[in-house]
Amino acid sequence: MSANLKYLSLGILVFQTTSLVLTMRYSRTLKEEGPRYLSSTAVVVAELLKIMACILLVYKDSKCSLRALNRILHDEILNKPMETLKLAIPSGIYTLQNNLLYVALSNLDAATYQVTYQLKILTTALFSVSMLSKKLGVYQWLSLVILMTGVAFVQWPSDSQELNSKELSAGSQFVGLMAVLTACFSSGFAGVYFEKILKETKQSVWIRNIQLGFFGSIFGLMGVYVYDGELVSKNGFFQGYNWLTWIVVVLQALGGLVIAAVIKYADNILKGFATSLSIILSTLISYFWLQDFVPTSLCLSMKDWI
Ligand code: C5P
Repeated sequence: MSANLKYLSLGILVFQTTSLVLTMRYSRTLKEEGPRYLSSTAVVVAELLKIMACILLVYKDSKCSLRALNRILHDEILNKPMETLKLAIPSGIYTLQNNLLYVALSNLDAATYQVTYQLKILTTALFSVSMLSKKLGVYQWLSLVILMTGVAFVQWPSDSQELNSKELSAGSQFVGLMAVLTACFSSGFAGVYFEKILKETKQSVWIRNIQLGFFGSIFGLMGVYVYDGELVSKNGFFQGYNWLTWIVVVLQALGGLVIAAVIKYADNILKGFATSLSIILSTLISYFWLQDFVPTSLCLSMKDWI
């Protein structure tokens, strides 16, 4: 049963990550009139959807009794403020991480950012070893290094992107690099911290996700106020939302649920393997189906060797 859930959750994560990347890419190329949707509000909507889905799952687990649901939410969340507060740490770190990635993407080209961000696979392994006392053998370390190198090769900048990156100043590149490196450490730490809470306390994964989503929504709303407060008061919270925005938001909320299930039934290291598989899958789909992926100079020179 547990092994089934492990592979099922990993399979859904591959599907979710691949469709999210492709939908976001498609939504970027779609030309619509009027203002673009604000990503800060999308983060909050995704958190709220995640909380609603988790409440439904807790309701189902309590044999569809509203009274039982009410009691569980009271006993496990409101009456245990210290347990609930524990989730403010990963939630705050994830909010910081999302902002750091924004800084990184403003100062680095997308490909350099993605290649560097794969370092999180190694930081996650380091935190798993130090915080969860996981033991990794030589072959497991070696496969992590090979995985990281492979994913970095898939995302190596193409010639046109290399030209773009030359236009970015050295100072700006340094700021971007520092932001993405810090994000690698925060991603590894927050993921492993969440795994520790899930595996070492008895609250269900859905209750933990409601707590995480609660803090995530508060931090997210602060983000809306700070970054887009003026735009929201002028054009509204849901400005620029269309059907595609809703698909992206639902896929993002689903991502939060699936990531939590993967961390519970598998672990953060396997999550790294699943998301890497999805990077390779979406690259292949982009190349063969959407035809918007240009093979890099590295791919082309590798073809010459073969
Ligand atoms: O890059 P990384 O794998 O660290 O990203 C994890 C993402 O998953 C973060 O954006 C975080 O907000 C989200 N997450 C979530 N619910 C969880 C765990 C992570 O929404 N239970």
